Amino acid sequence: MTASPNSAEARDIAYQLHSYTNARLHQEQGPLVIQKGDGVYVEDLQGKRYIEAMAGLWSVAVGFSEPRLAAAAAKQMERLPFYHTFTSKSHGPVIDLAEKLVSMAPVPMSKAYFTNSGSEANDTALKLIWYRANAMGQPQRKKVISRQRAYHGVTIASASLTGLPNNHRSFDLPLANIIHVGCPHFWREAKPGETEQDFSSRLAAELEQTILSEGPETIAAFIGEPVMGAGGVVVPPEGYWEKIQAVLAKYDILLVADEVICGFGRTGNMFGSQTYAIKPDIMVFSKQISSSYMPISALLINDRVFEPIADESSRIGVLGHGFTASGHPVAAAVSLENLKIIEERDLVGNARDVGAHLQKRLRDLSGHELTGEVRGVGLIAAIELVGDKESRQPWGTTGALGSLVNRHLQDLGVISRNMGDAIAFSPPLIITEREVDIVVDSLTEAMNRAAAEVRARRAVAAE
Ligand SMILES: Cc1ncc(COP(=O)(O)O)c(C=O)c1O
Repeated sequence: MTASPNSAEARDIAYQLHSYTNARLHQEQGPLVIQKGDGVYVEDLQGKRYIEAMAGLWSVAVGFSEPRLAAAAAKQMERLPFYHTFTSKSHGPVIDLAEKLVSMAPVPMSKAYFTNSGSEANDTALKLIWYRANAMGQPQRKKVISRQRAYHGVTIASASLTGLPNNHRSFDLPLANIIHVGCPHFWREAKPGETEQDFSSRLAAELEQTILSEGPETIAAFIGEPVMGAGGVVVPPEGYWEKIQAVLAKYDILLVADEVICGFGRTGNMFGSQTYAIKPDIMVFSKQISSSYMPISALLINDRVFEPIADESSRIGVLGHGFTASGHPVAAAVSLENLKIIEERDLVGNARDVGAHLQKRLRDLSGHELTGEVRGVGLIAAIELVGDKESRQPWGTTGALGSLVNRHLQDLGVISRNMGDAIAFSPPLIITEREVDIVVDSLTEAMNRAAAEVRARRAVAAE
């Protein structure tokens, strides 16, 4: 890139190592520096505006300029900027938020536990599951089943739960005791002639086979996102969660619902667990809990989980776990105000209604020469691109077409994210139909531009 030596872009290249970035390519291309946001829009340093069709990282439910969240943060900063939750200490915002979350849960829950990121929350879930197994005199019950293409974060334990190669490669992960079963990606993984129900039955049978071959007494829990996000927006096929839960119940295996993306409205219900009739023992939240205005995450645990843990902490003398910022008062105050806004403005209803419009508009692109599959629910969706519709093969290497369309889309003023060749959409829950139209019209143009390039390159190759 040609940035002047003291520009923000040049200083970024000089001083920052970025997450989920090719560090060498970044040195050549530099960053997109965002300086402000309003509603569903963000603006870069040159003043160009983009619709943030990923809500940042699936997270800014109320949009980028909500004054009530800024006011809630300022008020709490002035009153009590920090206090903790160790050694029986507490404070108003964290108590209110714990009560609020337990009262919102779609199944009976007992206690909330606070952490600061989705990864920390899943890490904590795994530790609590192990602690509970020891508390129950079942030290052999330590294995946790996750799924290929799952995304549960990047700490050592969470990255192990994640089922994506790039989170394991060269990090010496996953840890032992984490097992990955098949991904419920109907379009990619179903066998010819299988219905969604057949496919779900096969996955449930494979899960049962895995449990039996590992030894049911060694399996502590199963973790899953109601809709997989970073693995490419994988919507469960019909009957999937019902059949999986039947197997888990048969062997008394805990179920963890990772609601980090789905929670607080994304799928058109308050929780993804409601959309798919999931009855978890542990629920994990982050992102839309505070619209990511402050870092915060939370777990809800039911009595099946809490009671043995309480006994074990009493036997040992302490629950030896906790983060300095667990239940941070400013993050808790912002979360409370954010949840109030989601309820008052019926953003869950908006996700359902405007989500239906997004899903329809994207499905109208099914006939496009580059479209493999369109999938999604509520305000989360993906369009998977292919080089060949019949064979469903990519154009060149996997991700080449996704990156190309994503780049065109960004030029056209829409920020999205390609996971391989799946272009994802997860806009703020406040998005309107008109704004959805701008996103999908821009996507259509980006796909047309990419298709023209593909055709041109094929013509050159054929000469
Ligand atoms: C479903 C899910 N779980 C966990 C995480 C990890 O959250 P964090 O990036 O806050 O550690 C993510 C992040 O995208 C996620 O999508």
